[in-house]
This record gives sequence, structure tokens and C-alpha cells, in this order.
Amino acid sequence: MADHHGKSNGRGSNGRNGRSRYAHIIGWGMALPSRVMTNDEIAQMVDTSDAWIRERTGIRERRIAGAKDSTATLALRAAKCALEVANVSPADLNLIIVATATPEYLFPATACLVQDWLGAENAGAFDLSAGCTGFVYALSLAAQTIISGAADTVLVIGSETLSRIVDWQDRGTCILFGDGAGAVVLRASNMPGGVLTTLLRSDGSGGELLALPGGGSRYPPSPTTVLNGMHKIHMNGREVFRFATRVMAQATRSVVEDAGLTLEDIALVIPHQANIRIIEAAARSLGMPMEKMYVNIERYGNTSSASIPIALCEAIESGRIKADDYIVLVAFGAGLTWGAATIKWVPTPPPASPLEQRAHAVRYWWAALRSAWRRFWRRLESRLKGPATASEK
Ligand code: COA
Repeated sequence: MADHHGKSNGRGSNGRNGRSRYAHIIGWGMALPSRVMTNDEIAQMVDTSDAWIRERTGIRERRIAGAKDSTATLALRAAKCALEVANVSPADLNLIIVATATPEYLFPATACLVQDWLGAENAGAFDLSAGCTGFVYALSLAAQTIISGAADTVLVIGSETLSRIVDWQDRGTCILFGDGAGAVVLRASNMPGGVLTTLLRSDGSGGELLALPGGGSRYPPSPTTVLNGMHKIHMNGREVFRFATRVMAQATRSVVEDAGLTLEDIALVIPHQANIRIIEAAARSLGMPMEKMYVNIERYGNTSSASIPIALCEAIESGRIKADDYIVLVAFGAGLTWGAATIKWVPTPPPASPLEQRAHAVRYWWAALRSAWRRFWRRLESRLKGPATASEK
């Protein structure tokens, strides 16, 4: 198949004919907590079994954040790995997007914490909330920003600590989720390829099927919201399952078609890892063999917006993705949201040498020092100057 430049279809695809800028993934990284939780351990907490969980979901074990892990620390680890592979300095980043359903705080954004820790002094930073579709949304936005010329280098992270919002007494949900983070660095290039087409969709009428109702402006935190378990995941598993099997194949077909490709051209599909049966149903509906679907759900469970970048990272590092391959990322999640992207994989630059890696480490150390100094200076300034005057306001 010749180099394609997907066409603009007025339906949300980012395909363009005659583009001069392309957005390539040049770095990738992942971070997982070391603590492994097996199905047998969950069976000690709720009425379930390893056999049931494996048969109905494909999950054997998942990772659980330790006391020192959080969405931001996992995001930072994944980001550092991705920058290392890309051999990009944090100062070169124009934008950092963290897709997450479990942000460090309601605000400030987790992305701003990562920006500060990396010392990415020239980057804007914000969080993106689109449930498990978050990474695909963020990738699409990052690619558009690069293609439009508004940015040259963008860091996209999917990071989650779902174990902190799971109801460990609800066997319908606690078996599914895990913690982790994945990140990619995207960079502008005039070489055709990279993110070719994307599709983003939503249907808010299904919002209550997968929700965390407490803690926002509708139900601010109170003893009642805590007692009623409103700060935990609430899910209608059957309905989400039905929705997912419908949209996964539709979205895949759509982005592939918009890219001027056929399903036969696709070397690998990286689907959101929610349930092996959903992935199998999508493969059946697309007429694709399971060998073309990347699956790692057995080891990590559903890590929401981190699932696709973690799978992408593993697929690249295990040689499942080769230069000039066309791949599809496809996800669904809370919102309801769903989305997909077609990517043409291009050869990537060599990763940082040991010397360059040391230089990166010095930069992170310097960033921490600078951040501490800024905090100190802000406090000192406010002591010396007192409250802000009318003219300062
Ligand atoms: N262990 C044992 N039995 C369980 C169980 C568990 N962990 N969870 C549910 N069951 C029981 C149910 O109570 C039900 O029993 P009943 O027939 O006596 O009422 C039975 O198993 C079947 O329940 P059902 O909900 O139909 O199971 P399922 O095959 O749909 O599997 C999910 C449940 C949650 C695994 C499945 O619906 C799913 O994966 N949905 C999608 C969820 C998802 O992807 N969410 C994230 C979106 S990003």
C-alpha cells in the first residue's frame, strides 16, 4: 500500500491530503508498581475465584500501587523512560497531556506536577478526562497540535491508580482494574507517517453506566457520600460490555477506512485491555485473527488510560511492531467515550547514549532544585512584601 495521507472526512478524522507536517511517536515508556495482586488474593476478599475471573475476563493478576506510588509518580517514571528513548530534553517539550481518571488532585493538574518534576519549563500542561479512552483522545489532540504547527514536541501520558477508587467489596468491579502508566513523545516531522487518522466519539446518555459520583460539584465530599460508597467505581458491567463490543469494531473500521487503508493492511491492533472477551468479539467482528490483536490483560488487568500506552510499549519492545507497519489503537470507556487512531510506524532515532542519559539525570536533579528554590522564594516574597497590594492585584 502506498504512503497514505488519510482524507479529511468532516466526521472528526484528522486525515489530510498534502500535509507538510506529521506527528511521529519517537519515544515510549511505561511504569508499573512492583506489587502483584493475583486472582487468588482477590478471592480472599470477595466471593469469586481465579477460574471465574480468568474465564470471564482473561485477567490473572494486576499491579497495585504501593504507599509511595501515585498517579503522578507513575506518570513521571513513564515520562522519563519515553524521553530517554526519544532522546529529548524536557526543555524541548511544548505540551504535556496526562490522560487519567484518577488524577493526583481535582486540581492542580497531574500534568503540572509532572511538568515541574521534569523541569519542562517551556511546556503547557493539562489533564484530560475521557475515561479509558483518555490516551487515544490525548494522542489525537497532541497530533493535531503538532500537525497544525502549534507545537513541535508533545508528551502524552496515560496514568492511573485505580486501586485507590475501587470498591474492594464489589466483586463485579474489583476483579477488573489495576494500576500503571505509559507515555509517548510525539514530534513534528516532514516525513509522511505517524498518527494518520483519529476518531473521537462520545455518548453522555450512558454516563451512569460507569461513574464515580462523589467528590465533584454535584455531590461534594461529606460523611454521607463516604458512607454511601460514592467515591468508588460504580459500573453496570453487562451494559458496558454490550456497548464496548459494538464500538470497538466500528471505530477500527472507520479510522482504517479514513486512512485509505483496508483491514488487511493493519499489522497490529492495540485494543484497550478491559476484557479478553471484548477483544475477541472485536476481532471476530473485524474478521481479524487474534494474532493481530495485542493482548496483555492477563498480567495487568484494566489500567484504564494507561492500558494502550503500556501495551504499545510492550509491543514495540518485543518486536511486534516494525518500521512501516500500520497499527490501530482503539479504546472505549466512561463518558461514554470511544476512539481510535491509525498510525504508520516509522524508524525512530537511536535512544540516548549512557552519557546523554547521565545528562538527563543531571537535568532532573536541577529541576528539583529549581522547583524547591521557587517554592522557597514564593514564601519569602510573600513574607517580605506582605499581602498583594491593589496595584499588584
Ligand atoms: N465472581 C463470581 N461471580 C461473579 C463475579 C465474580 N467476580 N462477578 C459477577 N458474578 C456473577 C454475577 O453475580 C452473576 O450471577 P447471577 O447469574 O447469579 O446473577 C453472574 O456472575 C453473571 O454476571 P454478569 O454480570 O452477567 O457477568 P459477565 O459475564 O457479564 O461478567 C464482567 C461481568 C464485569 C466481567 C463483564 O460484564 C465485563 O467485563 N463488562 C465490561 C466491564 C468493563 O470493561 N469496564 C471497564 C470499561 S473501560
